[in-house]
Amino acid sequence: MQNFTFHNPTRIIFGRGGIARLGPEAAGAGKKALLVYGGGSVKKNGVYEAISASLAENGITVTEHPGVKPNPVLGHVRAGVEKAKTNKCEMILAAGGGSVIDEAKAIAAGAAYDGDVWDFFTGKAGIKEALPVFTVLTLPATGSEMNSGCVITNESLKQKFSAGSPRLFPRVSILDPGTTMTLPEKQTVYGAVDALSHLTEGYFSASDKDAVVTDEVVQALARSIIASTGRILKDPGDYNARASMMWSATLSLNGLQSLGYGGISFAGHAIEHSLSALYDIAHGAGLAIILPALFKHQLEKDGSGRLEKFGGAVFGAGSAGKTIEAFERWFKKIGAPIRLQEAGIPAADIPKIAENAMELITLWGINYDRKTVEEILTKAA
Ligand code: NZQ
Ligand code: ZN
Repeated sequence: MQNFTFHNPTRIIFGRGGIARLGPEAAGAGKKALLVYGGGSVKKNGVYEAISASLAENGITVTEHPGVKPNPVLGHVRAGVEKAKTNKCEMILAAGGGSVIDEAKAIAAGAAYDGDVWDFFTGKAGIKEALPVFTVLTLPATGSEMNSGCVITNESLKQKFSAGSPRLFPRVSILDPGTTMTLPEKQTVYGAVDALSHLTEGYFSASDKDAVVTDEVVQALARSIIASTGRILKDPGDYNARASMMWSATLSLNGLQSLGYGGISFAGHAIEHSLSALYDIAHGAGLAIILPALFKHQLEKDGSGRLEKFGGAVFGAGSAGKTIEAFERWFKKIGAPIRLQEAGIPAADIPKIAENAMELITLWGINYDRKTVEEILTKAA
């Protein structure tokens, strides 16, 4: 087990009625907020109304920044930075899923910076300051509500890159599982795949494979995600299943999931980001396509040990091959695509996708060359 430092400063307010506490929590950061949200789901499910009431009661005025799209884009981030600066906002509030939270974080960093916010994503500049971020999460998936990263697509360059800094941990995140009851089934499914992938990325690429406690945490979270998804698909109104899913997804990418592993690689994400950058598909859908192919590659390259251990503990699978089959079976069962053509992506595009992926692979320091990425994508065809 390798050395680590763990510090996660985000305050989590979990459970029914939590949104009423946004105003009192945010009041400590000032009186003027930028409220970031997406295409309108928060207006349909009462989240927007509850936020507005809590902010008004606490004397916080709001400039709105609606219209964040899934796979948020740089142009919209830049517009948000402009608004935050012009209106002298003291904090950024996010109401929605990972896309909204990521855009809020990018705006929070951009508003405290004189240059172009994209500098943080290319590594040209580091994030030294950011406005405080508060979130109301409505989609369990990314873990963005309790981590220090954000992912934005540069729509003209077709680059989906990430930025991170301890400054980007949300100050407070409100997780009311009731807000997730209105999720379309597909979004529930893609969220589950994403959360599961955050666990497998570290577990399968761990430099140190003898961190028993973290293995056990990961396996337990994976079982919880799989069990909760099954219950939600059967009964979308099952509050306790929604609650377990929400907290499992948060814990799957808040740092806990890879403590003691030493170096890990997010290779599946580096390749998936090219699918969502080039074809604008949901991140979770792209992952369900890439992961089985990546696991096949890892089996050839790294041997069967990790796949066997994970599969035995999570699926009751008896071998590495059976573990990969179990992943594919589960993705299919819940309605996620597992091959490129199911998402309408032709195999002829593989060289183009690999070329795009190499940019992030290089930026993230992953030890894959273009041929390896093409081989993995070919396994997904
Ligand atoms: O835009 P609205 O109207 O809010 O609708 C959204 C959107 O259409 C809808 N939705 C969200 N909550 C809802 C709801 N609809 C009804 N009821 C609700 N309660 O769901 C759709 C998808 O939302 P989105 O935020 O895009 O989904 P998700 O949370 O999966 O976020 C995906 C983004 O996060 C990035 C992904 O790459 C992608 O861009 N990631 C961020 C990470 C991070 N910051 O740590 C890590 C992840 O690996 C990931 O890369
Ligand atoms: Zn992800």
